[in-house]
Amino acid sequence: MFQKMTRLVPVVLSMVFLLSLVVMPAQAQDPILVGLSFSDFETPRWIQENAIMTAALEAKGYAVVSQQASHDPVTQNNQIANMVTQGAKAIIIVAQDADAAATAVEDAVAEGVVVIAYDRLIATPDISAYITFGLIEVGNGQASGVLTALGITDLDNTGEWSVDNPVQLVKLEGDPGDNNAKFFEAGQDEILQPYVDAGIVEIVARQNIANWDETNAVTAMENILTSQNNEVDAVVAANDNLGLGALQALAAQRLSVPVSGQDATIPGVNSIARGEMTVTILKDYRVMAPQAVELVDMFLNGETDPDLQEYNLSDLTGNDALTGTVLAKYLPVTQVTIDNLYEEIVVSGFQGYDDVYQDIPEADRPPRPEEATPEAAS
Ligand code: BGC
Repeated sequence: MFQKMTRLVPVVLSMVFLLSLVVMPAQAQDPILVGLSFSDFETPRWIQENAIMTAALEAKGYAVVSQQASHDPVTQNNQIANMVTQGAKAIIIVAQDADAAATAVEDAVAEGVVVIAYDRLIATPDISAYITFGLIEVGNGQASGVLTALGITDLDNTGEWSVDNPVQLVKLEGDPGDNNAKFFEAGQDEILQPYVDAGIVEIVARQNIANWDETNAVTAMENILTSQNNEVDAVVAANDNLGLGALQALAAQRLSVPVSGQDATIPGVNSIARGEMTVTILKDYRVMAPQAVELVDMFLNGETDPDLQEYNLSDLTGNDALTGTVLAKYLPVTQVTIDNLYEEIVVSGFQGYDDVYQDIPEADRPPRPEEATPEAAS
């Protein structure tokens, strides 16, 4: 009996082994890890997009690791390398610095990781895809919003502005390491240049603001106002942080001039509702964030998105030394002024009614969307 049992042991053991093989696929079904790497969480939109992408990835059964790098490219590269070590199979990246991030990304891709450049390009052809918004259109909308507010509609209709009385215009641009910054600037210049050539607009200062930081923008604008003896008629600022910084410096000198922004942040749209900021650009990340997750899902499953188009990296960076191509997708943007703020921001639910109209007297507010009749909302 005992002998019989001992003879059975190897049989049982091999059965256990075979069973473990059958059970193995359960282990293989452990959630696949996806990394989210952000330059910072100071820009309000990144926090929202982190939440949207985390939820969308988890809903698809992925595990998520998310980190922000407090604007430090070295920290961001270390975080990316750590995600690879932890076993991440894909990483969605908002790069602090397009060139610096390329090193960590190339190492990750060499390990077989799928990398999506999110909103900001990374200067390497190794990324699987780049998803962003129309960058030139953003700049176009900022400049045209400011010109319209100045009463300039075209070269024959320039209102009070002329060669003898040109608009003294200030430009506050984004962080120089952000590949987007030069394209926003190019989009603005596309609109402004004909007026500059005609002598109707004079660009009196043009400055990049490190980290897109509002406090840095206040200081820059204060210095510009001092050197201009406060003779400034308009500010084209590349995002809401910079526009709000400019508005602070202007208000301290009791100046009120058209100012642009970007992102339709809560402080930005509240400033428009108060009649301070002139124009912002809505980039609906509620659309882009889930699309980035779809891209990850497709690439991990060996598929691709037919909407992606191939671009030369040199064209996407303005750097001729860079070779190779990148698959990219540009989503549409919307110019927002006081005229369409209610429809585009409040009714669409992009920002909450109470946030948009914070500190604005009840009597001066439009009705809440749920109370509004279709006529009242238009
Ligand atoms: C983004 C903007 C944002 C800025 C600062 C840019 O790359 O496109 O939407 O305001 O970075 O974070």
